[in-house]
Amino acid sequence: MADLRHFLDLDAIDATTLRAMLDSAARIKASGGQEDALRGKTLAMVFEKPSTRTRVSFDVAMQSLGGNVVSLEPEGSQLGRGETVADTARILSQYVDVIMFRTSTVENLVEMADAATVPVINGLTDRSHPCQIMADVLTFEEISGPIADRVVAWSGDANNVANSWIHAAARFGFELRIASPEGFRPPADILEWAAANGGRVSVGGDPNAAASGADCIVTDTWVSMGDEDAERRRAALEPFRVDADLMARAAEGAIFMHCLPAYRGDEVTADVVDGPQSVVWTEAGNRLHAQKSILLWCLLGSAGLA
Ligand code: CP
Ligand code: NVA
Repeated sequence: MADLRHFLDLDAIDATTLRAMLDSAARIKASGGQEDALRGKTLAMVFEKPSTRTRVSFDVAMQSLGGNVVSLEPEGSQLGRGETVADTARILSQYVDVIMFRTSTVENLVEMADAATVPVINGLTDRSHPCQIMADVLTFEEISGPIADRVVAWSGDANNVANSWIHAAARFGFELRIASPEGFRPPADILEWAAANGGRVSVGGDPNAAASGADCIVTDTWVSMGDEDAERRRAALEPFRVDADLMARAAEGAIFMHCLPAYRGDEVTADVVDGPQSVVWTEAGNRLHAQKSILLWCLLGSAGLA
Protein backbone atom coordinates (compact mmCIF):
# COMPACT_ATOMS: atom_id res chain seq x y z
CA MET A 1 0.00 0.00 0.00
CA ALA A 2 2.90 2.33 0.77
CA ASP A 3 3.96 2.96 -2.82
CA LEU A 4 0.49 3.57 -4.20
CA ARG A 5 -1.10 7.00 -4.45
CA HIS A 6 -4.38 6.18 -2.70
CA PHE A 7 -6.86 9.04 -2.25
CA LEU A 8 -8.38 7.90 1.02
CA ASP A 9 -8.64 11.05 3.12
CA LEU A 10 -7.38 14.63 3.18
CA ASP A 11 -5.41 13.99 6.37
CA ALA A 12 -3.39 11.32 4.54
CA ILE A 13 -2.14 13.63 1.78
CA ASP A 14 0.10 16.64 2.36
CA ALA A 15 -1.07 20.21 1.84
CA THR A 16 1.26 20.89 -1.10
CA THR A 17 -0.07 17.92 -3.04
CA LEU A 18 -3.69 18.80 -2.31
CA ARG A 19 -3.07 22.40 -3.42
CA ALA A 20 -1.49 21.15 -6.65
CA MET A 21 -4.54 18.97 -7.27
CA LEU A 22 -6.93 21.89 -6.69
CA ASP A 23 -4.94 24.19 -8.95
CA SER A 24 -4.94 21.49 -11.60
CA ALA A 25 -8.71 21.11 -11.31
CA ALA A 26 -9.13 24.87 -11.75
CA ARG A 27 -6.89 24.86 -14.84
CA ILE A 28 -8.72 21.90 -16.33
CA LYS A 29 -12.04 23.65 -15.77
CA ALA A 30 -10.76 26.87 -17.34
CA SER A 31 -9.10 25.45 -20.40
CA GLY A 32 -9.92 21.76 -20.77
CA GLY A 33 -7.08 19.66 -22.13
CA GLN A 34 -5.60 16.40 -20.86
CA GLU A 35 -7.89 14.49 -23.24
CA ASP A 36 -5.47 11.63 -23.74
CA ALA A 37 -3.72 11.64 -20.37
CA LEU A 38 -5.34 8.39 -19.19
CA ARG A 39 -5.75 6.61 -22.51
CA GLY A 40 -5.60 2.86 -22.01
CA LYS A 41 -6.35 3.13 -18.27
CA THR A 42 -9.49 1.74 -16.65
CA LEU A 43 -11.34 2.88 -13.54
CA ALA A 44 -13.48 0.44 -11.55
CA MET A 45 -16.25 2.12 -9.56
CA VAL A 46 -17.62 0.00 -6.71
CA PHE A 47 -20.78 1.33 -5.08
CA GLU A 48 -22.17 -0.20 -1.91
CA LYS A 49 -24.39 2.87 -1.46
CA PRO A 50 -26.41 4.94 -3.95
CA SER A 51 -24.85 7.84 -5.85
CA THR A 52 -25.72 10.29 -8.59
CA ARG A 53 -22.95 12.95 -8.57
CA THR A 54 -20.00 10.76 -7.62
CA ARG A 55 -21.00 8.05 -10.08
CA VAL A 56 -21.54 10.25 -13.09
CA SER A 57 -18.72 12.74 -12.46
CA PHE A 58 -16.11 9.99 -12.06
CA ASP A 59 -17.42 8.14 -15.12
CA VAL A 60 -17.40 11.24 -17.32
CA ALA A 61 -14.08 12.46 -15.87
CA MET A 62 -12.34 9.18 -16.67
CA GLN A 63 -13.80 9.05 -20.19
CA SER A 64 -12.88 12.68 -20.89
CA LEU A 65 -9.29 11.88 -19.96
CA GLY A 66 -9.30 9.08 -22.52
CA GLY A 67 -9.84 6.21 -20.10
CA ASN A 68 -12.45 3.50 -19.59
CA VAL A 69 -14.85 2.75 -16.73
CA VAL A 70 -16.49 -0.34 -15.27
CA SER A 71 -19.04 -0.12 -12.48
CA LEU A 72 -20.21 -2.71 -10.00
CA GLU A 73 -22.55 -2.93 -7.05
CA PRO A 74 -23.30 -5.69 -4.54
CA GLU A 75 -26.50 -6.75 -6.31
CA GLY A 76 -24.73 -7.50 -9.57
CA SER A 77 -21.47 -8.84 -8.21
CA GLN A 78 -20.21 -11.48 -5.81
CA LEU A 79 -19.78 -8.78 -3.13
CA GLY A 80 -23.51 -9.22 -2.58
CA ARG A 81 -23.03 -12.94 -1.96
CA GLY A 82 -20.27 -12.59 0.59
CA GLU A 83 -17.04 -12.40 -1.41
CA THR A 84 -14.73 -10.29 0.72
CA VAL A 85 -13.67 -6.76 -0.07
CA ALA A 86 -10.04 -7.89 0.05
CA ASP A 87 -10.61 -10.67 -2.47
CA THR A 88 -12.49 -8.23 -4.69
CA ALA A 89 -9.54 -5.83 -4.46
CA ARG A 90 -7.06 -8.53 -5.50
CA ILE A 91 -9.18 -9.46 -8.52
CA LEU A 92 -10.02 -5.94 -9.67
CA SER A 93 -6.36 -4.91 -9.39
CA GLN A 94 -5.54 -7.34 -12.21
CA TYR A 95 -8.12 -5.86 -14.56
CA VAL A 96 -8.09 -2.12 -13.83
CA ASP A 97 -5.67 0.67 -13.00
CA VAL A 98 -7.58 2.50 -10.24
CA ILE A 99 -10.55 1.71 -7.99
CA MET A 100 -13.12 4.19 -6.65
CA PHE A 101 -15.03 2.72 -3.69
CA ARG A 102 -18.17 4.01 -1.95
CA THR A 103 -18.80 1.90 1.11
CA SER A 104 -20.34 2.00 4.56
CA THR A 105 -17.34 1.79 6.81
CA VAL A 106 -13.80 3.03 6.88
CA GLU A 107 -12.79 -0.55 7.69
CA ASN A 108 -14.08 -1.69 4.29
CA LEU A 109 -12.19 1.13 2.58
CA VAL A 110 -8.95 0.22 4.33
CA GLU A 111 -9.49 -3.45 3.49
CA MET A 112 -9.82 -2.49 -0.18
CA ALA A 113 -6.72 -0.26 -0.10
CA ASP A 114 -4.61 -2.78 1.81
CA ALA A 115 -5.37 -5.62 -0.61
CA ALA A 116 -5.37 -3.63 -3.86
CA THR A 117 -2.24 -3.27 -5.95
CA VAL A 118 -3.66 -0.21 -7.71
CA PRO A 119 -4.66 3.17 -6.20
CA VAL A 120 -7.97 3.31 -4.31
CA ILE A 121 -10.14 6.44 -4.10
CA ASN A 122 -12.58 7.04 -1.26
CA GLY A 123 -15.94 7.74 -2.87
CA LEU A 124 -17.56 8.23 0.58
CA THR A 125 -17.72 6.23 3.78
CA ASP A 126 -19.74 6.96 6.90
CA ARG A 127 -16.62 8.74 8.21
CA SER A 128 -15.53 11.02 5.36
CA HIS A 129 -16.10 12.27 1.82
CA PRO A 130 -12.81 13.78 0.64
CA CYS A 131 -13.64 13.99 -3.09
CA GLN A 132 -16.61 16.18 -2.22
CA ILE A 133 -14.55 18.63 -0.21
CA MET A 134 -11.95 18.98 -2.98
CA ALA A 135 -14.82 20.17 -5.20
CA ASP A 136 -16.13 22.37 -2.39
CA VAL A 137 -12.83 24.18 -1.84
CA LEU A 138 -12.49 24.53 -5.62
CA THR A 139 -15.94 26.13 -5.67
CA PHE A 140 -15.26 28.44 -2.74
CA GLU A 141 -12.08 29.75 -4.37
CA GLU A 142 -13.69 30.11 -7.79
CA ILE A 143 -16.44 32.31 -6.37
CA SER A 144 -14.95 33.95 -3.27
CA GLY A 145 -11.17 33.90 -3.75
CA PRO A 146 -8.45 32.13 -1.76
CA ILE A 147 -9.86 30.16 1.16
CA ALA A 148 -6.83 30.60 3.44
CA ASP A 149 -7.77 32.59 6.56
CA ARG A 150 -11.44 32.77 5.54
CA VAL A 151 -14.31 31.49 7.70
CA VAL A 152 -16.56 28.53 6.91
CA ALA A 153 -19.49 27.73 9.22
CA TRP A 154 -21.15 24.31 9.37
CA SER A 155 -24.62 24.09 10.91
CA GLY A 156 -26.25 20.68 11.32
CA ASP A 157 -25.20 17.07 11.69
CA ALA A 158 -21.40 16.91 11.91
CA ASN A 159 -21.30 13.88 9.62
CA ASN A 160 -18.89 12.36 7.09
CA VAL A 161 -18.90 15.50 4.96
CA ALA A 162 -18.18 17.69 8.00
CA ASN A 163 -15.25 15.44 8.92
CA SER A 164 -13.64 16.06 5.55
CA TRP A 165 -14.25 19.81 6.00
CA ILE A 166 -12.27 19.50 9.27
CA HIS A 167 -9.39 17.84 7.44
CA ALA A 168 -9.58 20.56 4.79
CA ALA A 169 -9.47 23.37 7.38
CA ALA A 170 -6.04 22.18 8.47
CA ARG A 171 -4.81 21.42 4.96
CA PHE A 172 -6.00 24.69 3.33
CA GLY A 173 -5.63 27.03 6.33
CA PHE A 174 -9.16 28.35 6.87
CA GLU A 175 -11.23 28.69 10.04
CA LEU A 176 -14.06 26.19 10.44
CA ARG A 177 -16.85 26.74 12.98
CA ILE A 178 -19.12 23.79 13.56
CA ALA A 179 -22.53 24.21 15.20
CA SER A 180 -24.29 20.96 16.04
CA PRO A 181 -26.23 19.48 18.95
CA GLU A 182 -24.69 17.17 21.53
CA GLY A 183 -24.53 13.68 20.10
CA PHE A 184 -24.09 14.97 16.53
CA ARG A 185 -20.59 16.38 16.90
CA PRO A 186 -17.34 15.34 15.20
CA PRO A 187 -15.27 12.41 16.49
CA ALA A 188 -12.65 13.41 19.06
CA ASP A 189 -9.80 11.88 17.07
CA ILE A 190 -10.54 13.99 14.00
CA LEU A 191 -10.67 17.17 16.11
CA GLU A 192 -7.43 16.15 17.82
CA TRP A 193 -5.77 15.58 14.44
CA ALA A 194 -6.89 19.03 13.29
CA ALA A 195 -5.58 20.72 16.42
CA ALA A 196 -2.26 18.92 16.09
CA ASN A 197 -1.98 20.02 12.46
CA GLY A 198 -2.73 23.72 12.85
CA GLY A 199 -6.45 23.48 12.09
CA ARG A 200 -8.58 26.29 13.46
CA VAL A 201 -11.74 24.31 14.19
CA SER A 202 -14.30 25.18 16.85
CA VAL A 203 -17.36 23.15 17.86
CA GLY A 204 -20.37 24.56 19.67
CA GLY A 205 -24.14 24.51 19.89
CA ASP A 206 -25.00 27.99 18.60
CA PRO A 207 -25.56 28.29 14.83
CA ASN A 208 -25.86 32.08 15.05
CA ALA A 209 -22.44 32.40 16.67
CA ALA A 210 -20.89 30.07 14.09
CA ALA A 211 -22.45 31.96 11.19
CA SER A 212 -21.52 35.43 12.44
CA GLY A 213 -19.36 37.08 9.78
CA ALA A 214 -18.69 33.77 7.99
CA ASP A 215 -17.75 33.71 4.30
CA CYS A 216 -19.60 30.46 3.69
CA ILE A 217 -22.34 28.54 5.43
CA VAL A 218 -22.52 24.83 4.68
CA THR A 219 -24.74 22.00 5.78
CA ASP A 220 -25.80 18.50 4.77
CA THR A 221 -28.71 16.13 5.19
CA TRP A 222 -29.84 15.29 8.71
CA VAL A 223 -30.28 11.64 7.70
CA SER A 224 -27.26 10.20 5.93
CA MET A 225 -27.25 6.91 4.06
CA GLY A 226 -27.33 4.18 6.68
CA ASP A 227 -28.84 6.34 9.44
CA GLU A 228 -31.94 4.69 10.84
CA ASP A 229 -33.17 7.12 13.50
CA ALA A 230 -34.63 9.78 11.22
CA GLU A 231 -37.24 11.18 13.60
CA ARG A 232 -34.82 11.51 16.52
CA ARG A 233 -32.36 13.25 14.20
CA ARG A 234 -34.92 15.69 12.85
CA ALA A 235 -35.99 16.62 16.40
CA ALA A 236 -32.44 17.25 17.58
CA LEU A 237 -31.25 19.06 14.46
CA GLU A 238 -34.25 21.32 13.82
CA PRO A 239 -32.62 24.39 15.51
CA PHE A 240 -29.65 24.00 13.15
CA ARG A 241 -31.59 24.40 9.90
CA VAL A 242 -29.97 26.91 7.54
CA ASP A 243 -32.56 29.58 6.76
CA ALA A 244 -32.54 33.20 5.59
CA ASP A 245 -32.10 34.47 9.17
CA LEU A 246 -28.94 32.40 9.60
CA MET A 247 -27.60 33.48 6.20
CA ALA A 248 -28.20 37.10 7.21
CA ARG A 249 -25.71 36.70 10.04
CA ALA A 250 -22.92 35.78 7.64
CA ALA A 251 -20.60 38.26 5.93
CA GLU A 252 -21.84 40.30 3.02
CA GLY A 253 -21.44 38.21 -0.12
CA ALA A 254 -21.36 34.96 1.86
CA ILE A 255 -22.17 31.81 -0.08
CA PHE A 256 -24.24 28.74 0.82
CA MET A 257 -22.88 25.28 0.05
CA HIS A 258 -24.35 21.77 0.28
CA CYS A 259 -22.92 18.57 -1.16
CA LEU A 260 -26.43 17.47 -2.24
CA PRO A 261 -28.82 15.76 -2.30
CA ALA A 262 -30.70 18.48 -0.35
CA TYR A 263 -33.88 18.01 1.63
CA ARG A 264 -35.68 21.34 1.48
CA GLY A 265 -37.41 22.15 4.76
CA ASP A 266 -35.11 19.90 6.76
CA GLU A 267 -31.48 21.02 6.89
CA VAL A 268 -32.03 24.01 4.58
CA THR A 269 -34.98 26.10 3.53
CA ALA A 270 -35.91 26.28 -0.15
CA ASP A 271 -35.34 30.04 -0.28
CA VAL A 272 -31.70 29.51 0.74
CA VAL A 273 -30.76 26.49 -1.38
CA ASP A 274 -32.58 27.96 -4.39
CA GLY A 275 -31.64 31.55 -3.57
CA PRO A 276 -28.98 33.99 -4.80
CA GLN A 277 -26.32 33.06 -2.24
CA SER A 278 -26.49 29.36 -3.07
CA VAL A 279 -23.64 27.96 -5.17
CA VAL A 280 -24.75 24.33 -4.96
CA TRP A 281 -25.08 23.82 -8.72
CA THR A 282 -21.58 25.10 -9.41
CA GLU A 283 -20.42 22.96 -6.48
CA ALA A 284 -21.99 19.84 -7.96
CA GLY A 285 -20.58 20.67 -11.40
CA ASN A 286 -17.12 21.07 -9.95
CA ARG A 287 -17.14 17.45 -8.83
CA LEU A 288 -16.24 16.66 -12.46
CA HIS A 289 -13.14 18.85 -12.50
CA ALA A 290 -12.00 17.77 -9.04
CA GLN A 291 -12.37 14.08 -9.98
CA LYS A 292 -10.15 14.63 -13.02
CA SER A 293 -7.30 15.98 -10.91
CA ILE A 294 -7.74 13.17 -8.37
CA LEU A 295 -7.58 10.55 -11.15
CA LEU A 296 -4.55 12.23 -12.74
CA TRP A 297 -2.70 12.32 -9.42
CA CYS A 298 -3.55 8.71 -8.51
CA LEU A 299 -2.45 7.38 -11.89
CA LEU A 300 0.35 9.74 -12.94
CA GLY A 301 1.48 11.52 -9.77
CA SER A 302 2.05 15.24 -9.29
CA ALA A 303 3.88 15.42 -12.62
CA GLY A 304 0.69 14.26 -14.34
CA LEU A 305 -1.45 17.11 -13.03
CA ALA A 306 -2.50 19.54 -15.73
N1 CP B 1 -22.60 14.68 -3.05
C1 CP B 1 -22.53 13.40 -3.46
O1 CP B 1 -21.56 12.68 -3.20
O2 CP B 1 -23.60 13.00 -4.17
P1 CP B 1 -23.92 11.52 -4.65
O3 CP B 1 -24.32 10.74 -3.43
O4 CP B 1 -25.06 11.69 -5.62
O5 CP B 1 -22.70 10.93 -5.29
N1 NVA C 1 -23.86 12.70 4.47
C1 NVA C 1 -24.46 12.18 3.27
C2 NVA C 1 -23.69 12.60 2.07
C3 NVA C 1 -24.27 12.17 0.75
C4 NVA C 1 -23.44 12.58 -0.43
C5 NVA C 1 -24.54 10.67 3.35
O1 NVA C 1 -23.57 10.03 3.78
O2 NVA C 1 -25.59 10.12 3.01
